Amino acid sequence: MPKGIFAAAVLSNRRIHACFWRMDLEFTGDGAGAFARFHPGQFLQIDVSEVGLPPEDQIPLDLRDVCKRNVLLRRPFSFADVTPEAGRTTAELLYCVLGPASVRLTSLRSGDSMSIIGPLGIGFSVPEHRHLALLVVGGMGAPPIRCLAKHLRAEHPEMKAVAFVGAKSTVALPFEGDLSGIPSAVGSWVPAFAKFGIPTAVATDDGSAGYRGFVTERLAQWLDEQKDWSPTGTILYACGPEPMLAAVARIAGERGIDCQVSMERRMACGIGLCQSCAVECRPAAPLRVGMEGSQETVYKLCCQDGPVFDARHVVFET
Ligand SMILES: Cc1cc2nc3c(=O)[nH]c(=O)nc-3n(C[C@H](O)[C@H](O)[C@H](O)COP(=O)(O)OP(=O)(O)OC[C@H]3O[C@@H](n4cnc5c(N)ncnc54)[C@H](O)[C@@H]3O)c2cc1C
Ligand code: FES
Repeated sequence: MPKGIFAAAVLSNRRIHACFWRMDLEFTGDGAGAFARFHPGQFLQIDVSEVGLPPEDQIPLDLRDVCKRNVLLRRPFSFADVTPEAGRTTAELLYCVLGPASVRLTSLRSGDSMSIIGPLGIGFSVPEHRHLALLVVGGMGAPPIRCLAKHLRAEHPEMKAVAFVGAKSTVALPFEGDLSGIPSAVGSWVPAFAKFGIPTAVATDDGSAGYRGFVTERLAQWLDEQKDWSPTGTILYACGPEPMLAAVARIAGERGIDCQVSMERRMACGIGLCQSCAVECRPAAPLRVGMEGSQETVYKLCCQDGPVFDARHVVFET
């Protein structure tokens, strides 16, 4: 079933904590078939042009003025979970309220409907002969990595996995449950990963949960502690802010580990028409005969060639 424009029914929509909300959706008919094939790392474009604002006292103070702007363009989101069932597919949207579109999403109630284009883009892939997957999340990078965790457990049960989750502080961790004060050791701290048997190391910049410092430092520390470990049997997957992705790519490159990163760009169309989502890349092969070793780069489209890219090819904007 190819991508298309589908109606999704809202099953529930509630605030988890801080700016984070969870919406459960249901697709039926052709939408159920299309999203049953949703692959972790792919995305969707949501239309909120017909969705009204919530009452003013429910809009964060700093967003009240900016939210009055009409939202003409669809917005890209990932799914944190997708469950195909007989005749329907349910999905979990995990979103952060930070502008006109996401504020409007908070006004949707059970029984409301939304227009969604998808599934879009190219998601994560699992190369052959990998025994260990390392999942790295920075802040709102959680949804596609959570979706990947479920996929790995279902389709590659033989692979071990460890998740590394980082944010500025405990309140900026987009997970349900209280994570404050947990230790920096790897453990079953995050239910969203623990339910798939995946232990987690948490890192926060202020030390309010887990390791005090960047999640990439915790990842490097953990890799240095491993004995009898095979870089070629390992794959790194990451989603989060671009400086974090650049650091993960560096760690992977230094140790000879394959790494896939999910990139974010502003996306006006999401389907390869507007060229607004360029990602600078090193070509996988020389562009022309005799150009071996050249520093020449190409622009790829985050919405069509990604959002997931081989980290070796990306020229990060840092
Ligand atoms: C492939 C993809 C998947 C995404 N998945 C999710 C998800 O699962 N959950 C979620 O909460 N968000 C996700 N996002 C980000 C989401 O699209 C934006 O948060 C959303 O567009 C915000 O719309 P808004 O009108 O509320 O705020 P806007 O006013 O559009 O943006 C608010 C602030 O966020 C910044 N911003 C918005 N979009 C982007 C972007 N794409 N890249 C960098 N900065 C941006 C803006 O510069 C601005 O400072 C995803 C983005 C992409 C490209
Ligand atoms: S968002 Fe329009 S080309 Fe990518």
